Amino acid sequence: MRLSVFISLVSCFTLIRTCNASVIKDLARLEDLSARFKPVSFEEGYSVIWGSPIISSDSQADADTVQLKLDKSSGSGFVSLENYMYGFYSASIKFPAQDYAAGIVLAFYTSNADKFPSAHDELDFEFLGNIKGRPWRMQTNIFGNGNGGREERFDFWFDPTADYHNYSILWNYFHTVFMVDGIPIREMIGNESMGEDYPSKPMAMYATVWDGSDWATDGGRFKVDYKYAPFVASFKSLKMQGCAANPLLQNLESESASPSSSAHCNSPYAEYYDALEADEFLALDSKQKAAMAWVRRTHMYYSYCDDKVRYPTPLPECTSTIDSIPKAVRRRRQRRRKPNYNSSKTSFQDASGH
Ligand SMILES: *[C@@H]1O[C@H](CO)[C@@H](O)[C@H](O)[C@H]1NC(C)=O
Ligand SMILES: *[C@@H]1O[C@H](CO)[C@@H](O)[C@H](O)[C@H]1NC(C)=O
Ligand SMILES: *[C@@H]1O[C@H](CO)[C@@H](O)[C@H](O)[C@H]1NC(C)=O
Repeated sequence: MRLSVFISLVSCFTLIRTCNASVIKDLARLEDLSARFKPVSFEEGYSVIWGSPIISSDSQADADTVQLKLDKSSGSGFVSLENYMYGFYSASIKFPAQDYAAGIVLAFYTSNADKFPSAHDELDFEFLGNIKGRPWRMQTNIFGNGNGGREERFDFWFDPTADYHNYSILWNYFHTVFMVDGIPIREMIGNESMGEDYPSKPMAMYATVWDGSDWATDGGRFKVDYKYAPFVASFKSLKMQGCAANPLLQNLESESASPSSSAHCNSPYAEYYDALEADEFLALDSKQKAAMAWVRRTHMYYSYCDDKVRYPTPLPECTSTIDSIPKAVRRRRQRRRKPNYNSSKTSFQDASGH
């Protein structure tokens, strides 16, 4: 671990304010791996699945924007045209600006539920709106072979309604990593002992906005209030990199579900990009690990790994990677009011001036 990172982590325990400023400064120096990939224009890579998204094309594909709208008549969403066997999926997203956004679910995820309805894989970012004065939340989940129940929940260290931020999912044989602006917030190591609980069939990328009134905010206590509609989420810089699965094989559930054909991205899959096998994609480095530890310690308020009620025996992957959080701290975080995101930005600028 680099000394500066170590020092800022140590100061976390003593001075919360210094901690935020200096850790955020270190976070800003992390490479955002999504910057390595070229955006795919909407026309080339995606199609609308429901609702009426507003699509603005630009000669620079990263400036293509898609506005997904939720109003009383419908939510909306789009999907990638291809399924990828291992991949890097990323989008820059700006959340609906309304102060009241309870019940709204904004999702950015990968799935193959259409091809494998009874044994699907899925990697989820789900952003959950909130009542006035309370912040948006972020939930991640992982399904392998139809088995999910691996939720983790976080609050934000910035205002996701004010600007675009980059949300990325890296998925390869070695690990699956959820990243926000290049900062890993969650990692699941690929381990053969997990079998197909580790996602191992080609997946498409989805973005959707929908009414999740029955569960999204405080377990369904607060519903979508259409008085504030339309709720619009903006997406740009859509990226996908991976091995596009052979469409002829995608429908043969038994064939492509067998571990021998899906464990490696060679034949029978057509286009193979080896970018995801560069060193940076095989494991997190010490800076990324330190950043992830910071996010999990300061912004995670729920992990299935700590939930003794649902899992009296933790799932096998719940070992050393999860920092266990005291219950009281978790509850406090869950009740947290909207932080003043402006002031943390100011401390970051002050800190970087030195
Ligand atoms: C998101 O990624 C783009 C490059 O792909 C970069 O220019 C931009 O600064 C990133 N945004 C944030 C908030 O990190
Ligand atoms: C895989 O999981 C098994 C059982 O949980 C564990 O003993 C082993 O160390 C893990 N391997 C790796 C490479 O993490
Ligand atoms: C944050 O800053 C923006 C503009 O810089 C301002 O419009 C907004 O009112 C500020 N919010 C708070 C909570 O201070």
